[in-house]
Amino acid sequence: MRRALAKLTAKQLAMYPEYQAPTARLARYFKVRPEELLLTNGGDDALRVFFDTFVEAGSGIQICEPTFPMYRYYAEIYGARISALRYGSEMEFPLESVIAELRKKPRVLFLANPNNPTGTLFGFEELEKILRAATHTAVVMDEAYAEFSGFTAVPWIRKFPHLFVARTFSKVAGLASLRLGAVIACKESLALVRRAMPPFPVNLAALVAAEAAVNDRVTMQAYVSEVQRLRPWLAAELQKLGVRSFPSAGNFLFANFGPAGPALSRKLEKQGILLRERTRDMGPGFVRISIGTPAEMKKLLKAIRKEWKAPA
Ligand SMILES: Cc1ncc(COP(=O)(O)O)c(C=O)c1O
Repeated sequence: MRRALAKLTAKQLAMYPEYQAPTARLARYFKVRPEELLLTNGGDDALRVFFDTFVEAGSGIQICEPTFPMYRYYAEIYGARISALRYGSEMEFPLESVIAELRKKPRVLFLANPNNPTGTLFGFEELEKILRAATHTAVVMDEAYAEFSGFTAVPWIRKFPHLFVARTFSKVAGLASLRLGAVIACKESLALVRRAMPPFPVNLAALVAAEAAVNDRVTMQAYVSEVQRLRPWLAAELQKLGVRSFPSAGNFLFANFGPAGPALSRKLEKQGILLRERTRDMGPGFVRISIGTPAEMKKLLKAIRKEWKAPA
């Protein structure tokens, strides 16, 4: 990937980017046609476009919390009415409430699948029920972590024109700094979103790096396999220490350290280990732990053993 970036010439850098050829090649990665793929400036922007396309002040949008905070963030900026449902106490997806709430005809339903931070994943059966209930709603499946879950709604875009899939190259391809995301939908629906896009939303370095990443399937697959191997192992190790974690389909685990959690996070931070705290919205001790290398995970467990005691 860095070799591909180093090959960029001064002439290429001086020119506005050309999207047709890279889009065609990246479309192959997602197994869609080029006209079904819209490249965006990161995954965040692959979400913002729905506000430009479908939302005006006072429009309803639907989300399930806790989730990725950008849906709420954009909704507040655009003055949308937010209907926020909750994941269950076992972090289960609130399917029945989502379906009931769709009767109010929100403009857009945002679903992170797998969900960040809970790791919750639902499958085709739930998705089909949602799509059939969403008679007046654009359904945005935010699949930032799809590669780690093995599930994607992409094959359904032609069957359901109100289905939009948002993807990112930040996670599995490790390109967070270059900002490349994508919206995938059937040609006609994607044309609506395209209309709201500026002419050059994506930079050439991001395109070159993303192509190099998807061409190196071996590296990407090795990373996914490593995450899938370490995920249950870390959950089991945490359980031995008395720490509750929830089944996750992402490259992270959602765990609950209880009331002593915030103090533990502060101690770990001093050792350079960062846990993503969710105390504020979930209660004390809830954290999202990214799955790193085996050495990083061992270091984390060692630090937890030293700094934390399960309540008796
Ligand atoms: C669920 C979800 N969607 C989208 C994104 C945005 O990704 P990007 O870094 O490409 O903006 C993230 C990043 O954490 C995420 O967790």
